Amino acid sequence: MKKIFAITILSLTFLLACQMKYQSFSPGQVWLDDQNTHINAHGGGFLIHNDTYYWFGEHKIAGEEGNKAQVGVGVYSSKDLYNWKNEGIALEVHDDPNSLLVKGCIIERPKVIYNEKTKKFVMWFHHELKDRGYEAAMTGLAISDNITGPYTYIKSINPHAGIWPTNYPDSLKSLSADVDSYVRPSPEWKDAVRLGLYLRRDFEKGQMARDMTLFVDEDGKAYHVHSSENNQTLHVAELTEDYMDFSGNYTRVLHGEQNEAPAIFKKDGKYYMFSSGLTGWKPNPGKSAVADHPMGPWTALGNMCIGTEDEMKTTFWSQSTAVIPVIGKKDAFIFVGDRWTPDNPIDGSYIFLPVEFENQKPVLRWRDNWNLTFFDKN
Ligand code: GAL
Repeated sequence: MKKIFAITILSLTFLLACQMKYQSFSPGQVWLDDQNTHINAHGGGFLIHNDTYYWFGEHKIAGEEGNKAQVGVGVYSSKDLYNWKNEGIALEVHDDPNSLLVKGCIIERPKVIYNEKTKKFVMWFHHELKDRGYEAAMTGLAISDNITGPYTYIKSINPHAGIWPTNYPDSLKSLSADVDSYVRPSPEWKDAVRLGLYLRRDFEKGQMARDMTLFVDEDGKAYHVHSSENNQTLHVAELTEDYMDFSGNYTRVLHGEQNEAPAIFKKDGKYYMFSSGLTGWKPNPGKSAVADHPMGPWTALGNMCIGTEDEMKTTFWSQSTAVIPVIGKKDAFIFVGDRWTPDNPIDGSYIFLPVEFENQKPVLRWRDNWNLTFFDKN
């Protein structure tokens, strides 16, 4: 009797395990981890290490307070991209009110890269200080010897204090930096922004760094790409060899074009970027760009979404956060976007869609359900 009972329990557990196992992506749907809980890793960044995918993201809690960091950065691992194991909290916020990483600060879009020379995992994230809204516009650094953490918080900075971008003409450096003298928005302000009004304003104290991504090139060089100049212009900054600082070499790209949520990938020697416009948690039309070097110049390629008017206006009701190269498949890339739910951020869901190439442009189409065999047909 005991034996039959044990066998029945075992078979039921096995059946349940089989049912639970995902074999495809269902973009925008509830997505359960190994503990049967909706994945909680928003504004995510992905790192491939030892043939395993790691997904780092903002750990949200229920209610509007969940838009601030109450817990930290979560991390999940997966071998197949469909089934994710909760690996816990990689970077925890502190209770110490004197720490900049105190509970109630804002931690967004964490990205982790691995430094082959130092053997450290290096995390950079958008960091806003507690009770100061989005005004600090800093980028934070944390490191770990283990991919899943715990990560040790090192510092937060406004990069490039006293350093001009390499592509900023001398003739513009002495123009006015008086933002308040402009009617905002206005065509005059827009022109001045394009020519570096905010760059000049922040020259002494360091530049703004909000939405961000990291990209490691095949030569091991790492780049920190962030929305700067009051979200009007992206900065692409080279990191130092240990990835723990800014080298001082940086460029302004897509000047005055209001890009947020950048995600970069490389195919056939060209660099591609997906990004969004500037409407906070509300979705807007996606954007794409191409370059021959991460530091630019970047050429805009337009909205990458192909679909209904509503889908194109909203990036399939999502905002870009990352592009994942698929292990073992050539030219296979997955677009990852967030569907934000700021009233109850823990409910936010994720959009995984295959990147297709048409006329040398990356494009996205909606799919209710798809799997990695998609890439074998292309
Ligand atoms: C978005 C940004 C998010 C978050 C949000 C806050 O534009 O991409 O990461 O900062 O604004 O409103």
